[in-house]
Order: sequence, then C-alpha cells, then structure tokens
Amino acid sequence: MYEEYWELSKKPFQNTPDHEFLYLSSEHEEALMRMRYAVQECLGAAMLSGVFGCGKTMLVWALLAELGENYKSAVVSNPALDATELLREICYQFGIKEDLPHNKTDLMHLIDRILRNNINDGKDTVVIIDEAHLIGDMMVFEELRLLLNLHLKDRFLLTLILVGQPELEEKITNNKQLSQRIAIKYHLDRLNKEDTKNYIYHRLKVAGRTEAIFNEETIGAIFEVSGGIPRRINHICAMSLVIGFGRKVKTIDASIVKEAAESLVG
Ligand SMILES: Nc1ncnc2c1ncn2[C@@H]1O[C@H](COP(=O)(O)OP(=O)(O)O)[C@@H](O)[C@H]1O
Ligand SMILES: [Mg+2]
Repeated sequence: MYEEYWELSKKPFQNTPDHEFLYLSSEHEEALMRMRYAVQECLGAAMLSGVFGCGKTMLVWALLAELGENYKSAVVSNPALDATELLREICYQFGIKEDLPHNKTDLMHLIDRILRNNINDGKDTVVIIDEAHLIGDMMVFEELRLLLNLHLKDRFLLTLILVGQPELEEKITNNKQLSQRIAIKYHLDRLNKEDTKNYIYHRLKVAGRTEAIFNEETIGAIFEVSGGIPRRINHICAMSLVIGFGRKVKTIDASIVKEAAESLVG
C-alpha cells in the first residue's frame, strides 16, 4: 500500500524468512559458520539459541539453501510432541507420509534406513528441530540423543541441530548425555546499534530504495525501542512507513518511531 509512495519495489520489513533480505551481522555470520561447520565436518549435534525474533529460523533456512542438493533435510518446526510423535514427524518431514509405524523401535529402524539410503545416494542428512525449547517431555531429548547413536563405523549418519530460545540451553544441560554430544553451540545475540543501522539500510536497499528514509537519530530511536531484535525492528520500521505514508512526510523522525513502537505487542 505504501510501496509506491516510498519508492520501493517490495515491502522491506516483512517478518518472513525470505533470505533475499538476509543481512549477516558478525553474529549471524558466526552462527551460520558454526552450523555449517557442524554439518560439513559431521560433528553429530549442534545447538543454536537466542531470544524470540533474533533470526534463528532465518539462519536455518539460509543454511539449508546454502547446503543445496547434496543434503537431505528434515525440519521440525513444532516439536511440542511426545517421543513417538516426534520420530513420526521426522519421517514425515523426510517425505514418508504413508504407513508410518506407530512404535519407537520401528520408527527408529525406518529413520536408520532413510539415513543409510541417503548416504548410498551420496547425500548427507541434517535434522533440524526448531523451537526446541518447547519440548516439554524429557523423553524427547533422550530419543533425539538416540538418533545420534545411528552411525557407521567412522561417522554419524546425520547432523542434528537444535534451535530454540534461551531456555533450551538449560533443558539440554539437564540431559547430561545429550549435552555431551553437542559439539558446537552458539548463542545469537541482539544486533548492536551499528548493525541495526546496517540491517535497516540493507533491507531498504534490497527493496529498491536508494535514498535515506531513516536518519541517524531515527535509527538510534529504533535501536532503543527494538532492543536490536530483528523481528521488532521490522515491525517498528514497517509501522513507521505506514504512519509516514499517512502523514505524507518525506523522512521518518523519532516521534513517528515512538508511535510505531507503541503498536508493538510483546
Ligand atoms: N540476519 C537477518 N537478516 C534479515 N532479516 C532477518 C535476520 N534475522 C532476522 N530477520 C528477520 O526477522 C524475522 C524474525 O526472525 P526469526 O528468524 O523468525 O527469529 P527467531 O527464529 O530467532 O525467533 C525474520 O522473519 C526476518 O524477517
Ligand atoms: Mg524461530
């Protein structure tokens, strides 16, 4: 609705994991590098934590896009399941949608077969459990650990990546055996002020805008109210563009940002 007014070819601040908009702060770069390393070196398991909206899911999709055709993946986005349901969901995400077994032993055998088939096809396998902090049943973590027992003589059959909000770390710590299997960890932090500025400019540029809409002072205000969390930055910037469009202003000032922030929930 406001794209034409702001001379944009598309909406710049959508809360979707569209990696055309991916901005790699040094933090995001480091997180991506560690996940890539865990996968390429077949390290077994990795964990990525960070507050809601900091870019974890965005990085998961960026990683999978980067890994490309030589990898098979299963992404579980809602793991608030019991252990059997979770194994079924993993099979489902591998594309097995019919005649799924109902007991854990048969499901584990099926997953083992899928993983070996992938290797025979020259493909490595990545299983990503997003929102893993939502796992309530400790048996689920135990089952995930057992997945790591599926290996050949000299290598794991899969890389397991657990992604979730900071509580995940504590939950994993409570399962000593799983915790010891996690070879790589990373906690993704909020963006700092400089990165918040670069992030906003980057998204505007991808959306076709060449001239500044937000000045230094406005960006300072966006950083303050968003806490450097991309999801919140997107929301505030998008709302600011709507308000600015309504008022037919040429640039967004800090008072508009403040108003936009008031509409932010959570
Ligand atoms: N590095 C980034 N580059 C561009 N956009 C990002 C980045 N990180 C987050 N975002 C934006 O913020 C939104 C929320 O991020 P998301 O990955 O869903 O956070 P989380 O999974 O940590 O809760 C994404 O949909 C995306 O639009
Ligand atoms: Mg997420």
